[in-house]
Amino acid sequence: MKIDILTLFPKMFEGILEESIIKRAIEKGLVEINIIDFREFSHLSNHQVDDTPYGGGSGMVLRCEPLVEAIESVKTMDSKVLLMCPQGVPYKEKKAIELSKEKHLIFVCGHYEGYDERIRNFVDEEISIGDYVLTGGEIPAMAIMDSVIRLLPGVIKEDSYLEDSFMNNRLDYPTYTKPATFRGLTVPEVLLSGDHAKIKQWREEQALENTKKRRKDLLEK
Ligand SMILES: C[S@@+](CC[C@H](N)C(=O)[O-])C[C@H]1O[C@@H](n2cnc3c(N)ncnc32)[C@H](O)[C@@H]1O
Repeated sequence: MKIDILTLFPKMFEGILEESIIKRAIEKGLVEINIIDFREFSHLSNHQVDDTPYGGGSGMVLRCEPLVEAIESVKTMDSKVLLMCPQGVPYKEKKAIELSKEKHLIFVCGHYEGYDERIRNFVDEEISIGDYVLTGGEIPAMAIMDSVIRLLPGVIKEDSYLEDSFMNNRLDYPTYTKPATFRGLTVPEVLLSGDHAKIKQWREEQALENTKKRRKDLLEK
């Protein structure tokens, strides 16, 4: 998979690309990620990419030309252009699975007061990571990118995400590791039994209980 991220703050991505599972996925050639500073596409002599809103009001609005030209510089027939947008469709694991099957994702990160409304005509999807407003689209792009990359073949073992929360409209089962007793808190006996059939059944029951207790809405779907 190829990922292009259009942002005014490329340095924000340094950490996520240089650590852990994403770093390994890049090294193994399972994903290629390019960070593009769309300021380079500014038409103005001072490289300005934003301006005051027509009609007045506070904040600065990202102009169309640099963003649209940055999109067009990387877009191909295989691309899906995703606009980070608090007004977009709420992001779910189902969308992560869908996006993990794409060949090329382009993330468009807004900032400041947002972007010129006409930019919406040049994207395929508008995605929100939740009903709250962040300062920019960089953190949403990182969250979405991370959730997609972990699903790419070869990045992590398939059986380690197939039972994860939200995969089958339910939450994951509880997990424990050593020591068997910590400050009087013990590990459920069945997990120490070595009986794999019983452990499997216990995990299924616990996943269901967990979901009923914490996210009943998932079971209603
Ligand atoms: C301060 S926000 C603009 C908010 C906009 N004025 C509004 O109220 O809808 C700046 C940028 O951050 C990104 N952003 C903020 N919150 C987001 C969210 N919950 N999901 C996705 N992107 C978000 C978007 O790219 C947005 O253009």
